[in-house]
Order: sequence, then structure tokens, then C-alpha cells
Amino acid sequence: MKPLISSRPHAMTDRELIEKAKRARLKAYAPYSNSKVGAALLTASGRVYTGANVENVSYGLTVCAERAAVQKAVNRGDKDFLKIAVVADRNPPITPCGACRQVLSEFAKDMKIICANPQGKVRIFTLKELLPQAFEKRSTD
Ligand code: THU
Repeated sequence: MKPLISSRPHAMTDRELIEKAKRARLKAYAPYSNSKVGAALLTASGRVYTGANVENVSYGLTVCAERAAVQKAVNRGDKDFLKIAVVADRNPPITPCGACRQVLSEFAKDMKIICANPQGKVRIFTLKELLPQAFEKRSTD
């Protein structure tokens, strides 16, 4: 089995990150929406943390792919986010939901968001573009 976390600092291209998100997507548990989503989050340490959505019969308990990846990274003490790739079988490719944008913004003032689908379509954004005027913590928090 391939490790979920790889360390190849400074060499992670968008294309490679998309491939990791695509692979992570295969582990999604999405029997209710049938919408499998994969994410791959690159931090400044050079590590990549993957995630996939995990749904629940109590729908509101669903965890998105992006937040699954964030939990892994933060639990490793790796909080300096550089970019995230998100892959779903949708055209145009999906962008992270509002909740995930807010959670990413807790750890990254700005970062690259790479949205792709398995057919090879890619859309690139920044977090600032997707979540302008974010609710931010005070410097004293
Ligand atoms: N989903 C994600 O994993 N990430 C997003 O940014 C949008 C939505 C998941 C949640 C749910 O399991 C499925 O996609 C359909 O909404």
C-alpha cells in the first residue's frame, strides 16, 4: 500500500498533486450523494496529506475531502499550507464548499486551490479569491 504521506520537498507540481487527489478520491465513502471527492494538501514541509469525503446516514455529519486532509496535516503539527488539489467527477470541476474555505483560512492567509476532474479539466484559484473578506482571528486570539 502506498503511504498517505510522502515527502518530496519543493518538487510537487500541480499535476502531481492532482494525481494524489485523484487516487485519494477512490477511498471516498459517498453512498448517499454518489459524489466522490478527493483532496491532496501540500504543506511547506513538502509533505502531502490526502483526504476523501466520508458521508453518514445522518447527512449533516458528512466530512468533506478537504477537511479530512486538513485534520491529518494539523494532527501532524503541519500547519503551513501551500496548496490543495480537489478532484471530483464534475464539469466544471468543483470548488471547495464554504465551510472548507473557512477551515483552510484558519491556517493559510492565502493559498493555491487547484480544482480538477478526472477528465483533465483544471481550474486554479486562490483562497483569497474564493473567500474574500474572510472572518479572521484577532492577533490576540
Ligand atoms: N464535498 C466535498 O468533499 N468537498 C467539497 O468541497 C464539496 C462537497 C462532498 C460532501 C458530500 O459527501 C458530497 O461531496 C456531495 O455534497
